Amino acid sequence: MNIHWFGRRLRQQIMVEPAKVPRHVAVIMDGNGRWARNRGLPRVKGHEAGAESVRAVVQACREAGVEYLTLYAFSVENWIRPRDEIRGLMTLLRLFLNKHEDELHKNKIRLRVVGRLGDLPTGIQKELKRVIKETSDYGNGTVTLALSYGGRSEIVDAVRILADKARKGELNPEDIDEEMISSHLYAPDIPDPDLMIRTSGEMRISNFLLWQISYAEIYVTDVLWPDFREEDFNNALKEFARRHRRFGNVE
Ligand code: FPP
Repeated sequence: MNIHWFGRRLRQQIMVEPAKVPRHVAVIMDGNGRWARNRGLPRVKGHEAGAESVRAVVQACREAGVEYLTLYAFSVENWIRPRDEIRGLMTLLRLFLNKHEDELHKNKIRLRVVGRLGDLPTGIQKELKRVIKETSDYGNGTVTLALSYGGRSEIVDAVRILADKARKGELNPEDIDEEMISSHLYAPDIPDPDLMIRTSGEMRISNFLLWQISYAEIYVTDVLWPDFREEDFNNALKEFARRHRRFGNVE
């Protein structure tokens, strides 16, 4: 990130020290369905409008100097939604990739995915893998999409790998510690989120990044995801800057 520019911008815009900008923000993008219902529209229209918010928040991260943004785009539980809605979301994901791939290259932003990628339609898997590969060397920020993601499934998948290593005699179960579990999660190189934002007012974690959010600050806003824009994101950053993180220590 451009530190000089981002410091200046921050002082103007949100009046917090650059040191208080979260390095990693994770977002539960909730409220698309309600947004659509409020307008008498099908749910998929809410998701379409939500894709615009994704674009705005990626831009807001660049401007504020947030290095990592992780978006909960589709959970393992979402597969039980009506088929039309799932199809609509998958189409939207493909369109989103096509439409914004150039911006990723132009702004040197890496794309990553966490989740059970193998559950997605093969065409989308291929597209995702291609864009992930082609953006892998970029250093101006990382956008991670959580797709067919579940926090519990992620831990299950890590435990399976560890158990397999133990079975093969490559690992002594007594050597398993927190660091080893972290290093077997989907994206071990990405730091834990500092700030978790949830839109549309629900006070739930919904199986998102269960292991990684141990010390994240949580910010819930009533704004529905399709209405969430840069100003709303900056309000979350301001609130984060006011929080005093103790990580289990005393004042
Ligand atoms: C939750 O709202 C939202 C989702 C399950 C999907 C999020 C997807 C997008 C914002 C689409 C675009 C994203 C990308 C990366 C292309 P909800 O449907 O549960 O809303 P409700 O609680 O009001 O029903």
